[in-house]
Amino acid sequence: MASARSEALRETIPLDGSPERRIEGLVDHAKMRAVYVYEAPVRLWHWVTVLAMIALAVTGYLIGKPLSSVGGEASEHYVMGYVRMIHFISGYVFAIGFLGRIYWHIVGNRWSRQLFMPSLFSGKFWGGLVHQLKFYLFLTDEPRAYVAHNPLANLAMFLMFALVGLFMIFTGFALYSEGLGIDSWAGRMFGWVIPLLGQSQDVHSYHRLGMWIMVMFAIIHIYMAFREDILSKQGIVSSMVNGYRYFKD
Ligand code: HEM
Ligand code: HEM
Repeated sequence: MASARSEALRETIPLDGSPERRIEGLVDHAKMRAVYVYEAPVRLWHWVTVLAMIALAVTGYLIGKPLSSVGGEASEHYVMGYVRMIHFISGYVFAIGFLGRIYWHIVGNRWSRQLFMPSLFSGKFWGGLVHQLKFYLFLTDEPRAYVAHNPLANLAMFLMFALVGLFMIFTGFALYSEGLGIDSWAGRMFGWVIPLLGQSQDVHSYHRLGMWIMVMFAIIHIYMAFREDILSKQGIVSSMVNGYRYFKD
């Protein structure tokens, strides 16, 4: 256990042994270490994306399964109009945030690169993933310490958030282009997605399937964040609030 812990901290321990010395944001208290992992833009992006996704999932669900109709002129109450408008505004927020996160992948610290680039070709990554699975299945009670994501979380985030999120942006703007017209900017940039996947209804179905994958990710992710916080002796949830990962004990 001690070796896994020191392995995670090796790069950040002050080289001259002085507790005051800070390397890559390390704060060294007598009993607790903290590493500055998630920079402010990553945290801001995370919470804006969470809000956008809640709005997208609720309005998206209603687009596919609309509320029962109300009497009178549709244009007077405009319920589905507002539902779609909220979906499109949140869609823009999600997509612009995604682009901003890609930019931060380039200019941010090394941990900001894990989301889009997990170490898939490293044996250590897959070894850590198997160990993490055993930890979750209660086959071992020894958590391993990681400065940023554990390998299993990293793989889930890459597959179920980064790749599916990109798919949602492409399919979302392709559907959006049907309203704007094929010679609109959206039609020129994303119109090709519709014939590629079949026809409009197929794209609706795949877009909806994407939502369920992301909702599944969110449920597991939130559960894991709290579970790890309690069982792994590391400050997990706080890292997405103030940026610091604490190593307790
Ligand atoms: C996490 C991201 C997203 C989620 C969870 C999501 C979810 C959904 C769902 C469930 C539907 C209904 C599909 C159906 O059953 O017909 C839908 C429709 C749609 N979404 Fe998204 N979406 C997301 C991102 C986007 C983005 C980035 C855009 C781009 C503007 C977008 C634009 C649309 C459009 C145009 C429709 C069809 C509206 C209609 O036919 O009235 N979505 N979305
Ligand atoms: C729609 C819901 C959510 C989505 C889609 C989501 C997505 C993500 C993604 C993609 C990351 C990776 C960040 C990066 O490397 O740049 C992340 C990290 C994280 N999220 Fe969320 N998140 C959601 C909700 C929450 C909530 C409610 C919490 C609060 C408990 C939370 C806590 C965290 C923490 C602590 C991390 C860092 C985990 C680690 O270091 O392994 N998330 N989230």
